[in-house]
Amino acid sequence: MIIRELDDDAARAVITERLMPTFLELVFSEWDPAFRETPEGKQGMTVALVDRYLDSRRHGVPWLDRAIDLSSSRIVEIGCGTGSSTVAMAEHCQWVVALDVDQPSVDAARARAVAHDVTNVEFRSCPPEEILAAALAVADADVFVLFAVLEHLTVAERLQTLTSLWEALPRGGAIAIIETPNRLTYRDRHSSEVDFLHLLPDELAFRLVDLSPRAAYRDVVGRAAANPSPIDASVGRVRFGLGASFHEFLAALDEPLEEIVIADGYEDEITSWFGIHLDELLLLQYMLAESIAVPCAFARSVLNVVLRKPTGADDRSAAAAFNAARREALTGRYPLAPPGWHDQPAAQPSGPSTAPAPAGPERGNRRPVLDVLVATARSAARRVADRVGR
Ligand SMILES: C[S@@+](CC[C@H](N)C(=O)[O-])C[C@H]1O[C@@H](n2cnc3c(N)ncnc32)[C@H](O)[C@@H]1O
Repeated sequence: MIIRELDDDAARAVITERLMPTFLELVFSEWDPAFRETPEGKQGMTVALVDRYLDSRRHGVPWLDRAIDLSSSRIVEIGCGTGSSTVAMAEHCQWVVALDVDQPSVDAARARAVAHDVTNVEFRSCPPEEILAAALAVADADVFVLFAVLEHLTVAERLQTLTSLWEALPRGGAIAIIETPNRLTYRDRHSSEVDFLHLLPDELAFRLVDLSPRAAYRDVVGRAAANPSPIDASVGRVRFGLGASFHEFLAALDEPLEEIVIADGYEDEITSWFGIHLDELLLLQYMLAESIAVPCAFARSVLNVVLRKPTGADDRSAAAAFNAARREALTGRYPLAPPGWHDQPAAQPSGPSTAPAPAGPERGNRRPVLDVLVATARSAARRVADRVGR
């Protein structure tokens, strides 16, 4: 039975049967046995063994295929983990060279490729300080993929990785950033599951680790917090996962982002995977109202972005047109604050009044506009939730 030809239920059964013993030995044996018995631990095993692959083949990979035509792609994946994303891509592309810093994960990934009858993939494990050089040394690659990885790198690693990959990329090639949480949204859905915690500096976040409902977060980040070296503590927090934003891309790439972003996470394959949340709608509306000059991709709560290195002016114009059209469509879908609302001075209180406030920006008060934004975002969030059936 070839797994890629099976429906999700049948694939789940076959993957579990073929791979559970290997994963128990190589991957889950590293987990705390008590944690493995908890509902969170059991769910974590199912996610690692099966769900990440199913999500990749249902959402991430068809989305990537639409942007860059996987059938002709030669991919280097940095941070392949146990190969869920790797085999889902290998089922459609020319070949994948997949790298990770964790040897047991790479061993499990090799077993996964065998179980999936995938032969066009090569896995390598490398220490963190060598992984980028190893990725850059792969000949003839035209796509670099970081699937759920950027958020586990330090900021220095992120910048160095993005800059170096972009330089090495041939014209027409692409970098795909998939499933990376956005640091600019309020809820930390990736790591702590606590609002705002990911936005706090280490000293404050470490004092509040126990707010998290997740045992794994409390345990891993709690141990990082106890590290006497502030740098090691900080790295420990990042390794569990800390969001990225458009700022890394601005800092690392000497490019206007609207001329290189060709897929942005508002496509159906992604909105059916990550529904649109209130906090990202607020961010989107803020970015639109204040004319923050970056593609709307960077308002999504989970970043799914394909960046193409242009072959020439036509590619740049096509990407710019794509991003402008998206901005216009989203502006129409989520109405904005009236133009100029932010240019008015704040209204001075002039004693109690029962007269209704005049409508529009001439009222000169930001507060009601924010109320409108919140109400609009809430009703938009409800409409989106209805549409995706949540
Ligand atoms: C959430 S997993 C994603 C794995 C896989 N891409 C997937 O989607 O299932 C993140 C991976 O990043 C790897 N990682 C951690 N630090 C890294 C580093 N400095 N360079 C590259 N990968 C790293 C981890 O070992 C882990 O396998």
